[in-house]
Amino acid sequence: MNETIRLLQAHHSSRSYKTDPIPDGVLEAIIEAAHRAPTSTNSQEVSLVVVRNEKSRARIAEIAGGQPWIAQAPVFIAVIVDLYKTGLGVENAGGKQVFQRSLEGIVAAVSDAGIAMATIMAASRASGLGVVPIGGIRRDPQAMIDLLGLPPNTFPVDGVVLGYVGEESPQKPRMSIQSFRHDEKYHPEAIKPAIDAYDRTLQAYWQRIGRTDGLSWSANMAQHYSTFSRLIKSVAQKQGFTIEV
Ligand SMILES: Cc1cc2nc3c(=O)[nH]c(=O)nc-3n(C[C@H](O)[C@H](O)[C@H](O)COP(=O)(O)O)c2cc1C
Repeated sequence: MNETIRLLQAHHSSRSYKTDPIPDGVLEAIIEAAHRAPTSTNSQEVSLVVVRNEKSRARIAEIAGGQPWIAQAPVFIAVIVDLYKTGLGVENAGGKQVFQRSLEGIVAAVSDAGIAMATIMAASRASGLGVVPIGGIRRDPQAMIDLLGLPPNTFPVDGVVLGYVGEESPQKPRMSIQSFRHDEKYHPEAIKPAIDAYDRTLQAYWQRIGRTDGLSWSANMAQHYSTFSRLIKSVAQKQGFTIEV
């Protein structure tokens, strides 16, 4: 099988790291790969803040609700939606940016951030590193904004932890491919049976790896998606993001 496909199909998040530093050249190549990622209308509305400072990583681990792998691994890359940059471009051309005040603006920018994040992860794993994406920074986005010195019209969406893996973790099973790939039209009837089967698969997986606190997928969704968590609206508004249209 093609090496790139094999690497992508072998994805798993790692939460155990050695403290060994990542050589500058390796990190630069990863960042340059993400820098080449496509963006909506060539907006380049994403910026990365590379955090190597130990104290800052410890602070981010705390902001993210106590995630020790952020402090343990040598590099954390914060993925920032950056409409500060595009706003300056609009001003250069004599206009005033309003895009950050629309749902379309937010969807486009967050899509671009996701692509950058996926590229960082693929490039990192191709360089022999482990990764774990981090959305936990949105527990306290204001603290991230203060720590990273982010200007108006920017928002810390996610981050990625990179480092050499300590203890390898197994690959987590996914819901069946039939629940993911739909040919020509969406097939809603495929979903419920896939969920029921996956609930059993995931529970068997937790048992196999000795995790007594592991939930079925449905219970996990109920825990996270039946409440409003991470109340980011007021901080996002303060930064300039609203949904007027
Ligand atoms: C946008 C995003 C945010 C995430 N945030 C966190 C996080 O804050 N902490 C964490 O340990 N894992 C986080 N994850 C990792 C997911 O829990 C993980 O991808 C999922 O359980 C599937 O496991 P796998 O990546 O090992 O296949 C995040 C994943 C994504 C895509």
